[in-house]
Amino acid sequence: MTPFVKSFIFYLAFLLTSLAILSCSDLGDEALAIENEGCTDPLACNYDESATLDDYSCAFEEDICGICGGDGVVADDCCDEGEFTDDCGVCGGNNSSCVNFTDEILPIFENNCTGCHGGAGGLHLDSYENVMSGGSNEGVVISGSSSESLLWQKVNSGEMPPTGNLSQNEIDLIFQWINEGAQNN
Ligand code: HEC
Repeated sequence: MTPFVKSFIFYLAFLLTSLAILSCSDLGDEALAIENEGCTDPLACNYDESATLDDYSCAFEEDICGICGGDGVVADDCCDEGEFTDDCGVCGGNNSSCVNFTDEILPIFENNCTGCHGGAGGLHLDSYENVMSGGSNEGVVISGSSSESLLWQKVNSGEMPPTGNLSQNEIDLIFQWINEGAQNN
């Protein structure tokens, strides 16, 4: 046999072997694909009837929020059995303890702001609707985010009112009212 024929046979053998390996692994993939992974234990609370291959996800208890295998923390706002945290962080609350716009926020504006922001043109701070519709260009209160709200930025920096700062307590109330969703309550 000439060296050429030798290396040709060698090459052919190599080719056939790799073909065999390739087609085998193809078969292997198909075999895996028909398996449905999930929890296969009928006693588990997340038992998956259609599962044919156990994926070790079985859990046997529900957390206080009723979530199978949950840790009682991640469920959104769930704080106790069937209870949810309200906008002011009270478990099972109805928002009644949130900062009150009419009783706590509007008086701050009336005493410190409406002298300038209550007349013609620009920002009016004399009613909920006017506070929320903002100044000439855009909203000055971004519901839920005091740090993004121009109104809070201005009172917190002491820029507004120009005649003298609000008390820390008043600044904090505005902060809290905006973070609690700037409610019209
Ligand atoms: C002595 C007058 C005066 C008082 C009092 C005053 N402001 Fe202003 N305020 C201005 C002026 C002038 C501007 C700049 C022009 C404008 O945007 O209307 C301004 C601008 C603002 C802006 C920016 C408006 C925008 O759309 O750019 C906010 C927010 C604001 N004031 C909030 C307040 C708040 C809250 C109070 C009360 C705690 C207050 N201001 C009290 C005069 C006043």
